[in-house]
Amino acid sequence: MEIDRRALLKRAGLLAGTGALAGLTGCEPARDAAPAGGPAATALSGWAAVRARFDLDRGKRHFAAFVLASHPRPVADAIQRHRAGLQADPDGYLEAHGRRLDRAARAAAATYLGGDAGGLAFTRSTTDGLGLLYGGLRLRPGQEVLTTTHDFYATHEALRLRAERTGATVRRVGLYDDPAGVSADGLVAAVRRGIGPRTRVLALTWVHSGTGVKLPLREISAAVGELNRDRDPRDRVLVCVDAVHALGVEAADAPDLGCDFLVAGCHKWLFGPRGTGLVWGRDAAWDEVTGTVPSFDRRAIGAWIGGRTPDLQGAALFEPGGFHAFEHRWALAEAFGFHLELGKVAVAERTLALASRLKDGLAALPSVRLVTPRAPELSAGIVCLDVDGMRPGDAAATLRRQGILAGVTPYADPHLRLGPSIVTSEEDVDAAVRAIHALA
Ligand SMILES: Cc1ncc(COP(=O)(O)O)c(C=O)c1O
Repeated sequence: MEIDRRALLKRAGLLAGTGALAGLTGCEPARDAAPAGGPAATALSGWAAVRARFDLDRGKRHFAAFVLASHPRPVADAIQRHRAGLQADPDGYLEAHGRRLDRAARAAAATYLGGDAGGLAFTRSTTDGLGLLYGGLRLRPGQEVLTTTHDFYATHEALRLRAERTGATVRRVGLYDDPAGVSADGLVAAVRRGIGPRTRVLALTWVHSGTGVKLPLREISAAVGELNRDRDPRDRVLVCVDAVHALGVEAADAPDLGCDFLVAGCHKWLFGPRGTGLVWGRDAAWDEVTGTVPSFDRRAIGAWIGGRTPDLQGAALFEPGGFHAFEHRWALAEAFGFHLELGKVAVAERTLALASRLKDGLAALPSVRLVTPRAPELSAGIVCLDVDGMRPGDAAATLRRQGILAGVTPYADPHLRLGPSIVTSEEDVDAAVRAIHALA
């Protein structure tokens, strides 16, 4: 589908002539120059202007993009606009605007992902998407799902529930012992070693939220592609990826990664509306999955009304229907538009530059052990670390008292975790390094 990018951005309120987002490498005004809800973004330049479009508490340093997003003003305004319309006349607003707004949100997401809108389904979160995908993939008797020990609860639990319901076999392999020391070749080789003759689904996470390791997805998909060449199409390994800590960080287009499915929430690094997410699938891959929650696609409902069985395939049947928090879903147009206006590459470079600055600073501290690889090819925005003699929870609590909002990885082997992003500055990063230095 050909999308008019300018029209899209205009709709997202990003081409209003503020110049707010111009000159992203421009000079940074002092931190206090932009109080919450403060001066128009036009008074600022570069990334400071971007940060000024968020209502985040300026007295704090925000390193928790890996949890839940605050959204920028164009998104907040869109939510408010739709909410007011729905509050005044829910049925009327939905009838008058619903289809157009839904199309706009899908078009924006498709433009951002580099695909076409027919290849994606909206969900409420990553967890929602993983549950639907791993619950709905067609598996024949004897076929197995392979996942890794590094995946998050949402993947493991979705697969456990699938196994419980259907008796499917799920196997886990470790890809590394020392996250800071991984190499792309080593990771690809470990995945290859894990895949067995019965493996039908490879369930991975692009950026591991427990270590910050970023998998070399293109290389992994290429290796799987080689294996698949000798397989019956019904036994091809499907590469399914939790991409939540990459969406809004990595610049790659979805189709270029070589994966079959990408699943993500839009309410973390994308800074989209809370309670939104998506599943993107390669065209052919959609044949391998069935829906779980009834779709509200008009064709499906029309078939039912006409006494026929809906014969839809793909994303349209997979996408859970029902009435939604539409004001949030429709504001995805503005969320994706915001990133498109900034530029995917500029956002990726900014996030990686801040993460590198943070890791460089931390690596110089004798009391710190970096868990996340230093190399930008093997890491994204998540930075995990241990501080000598201090429990991660205590470290995070101490930082929080100083206004530095970090977190602890929710895994059996917990680490202190920070996520520099487009809402943090160099000054925030340097302050975090100083505060971590003072912890030990
Ligand atoms: C790897 C990973 N996947 C999924 C989730 C959950 O995302 P969501 O809130 O979009 O379901 C998290 C953490 O919140 C995570 O770290």
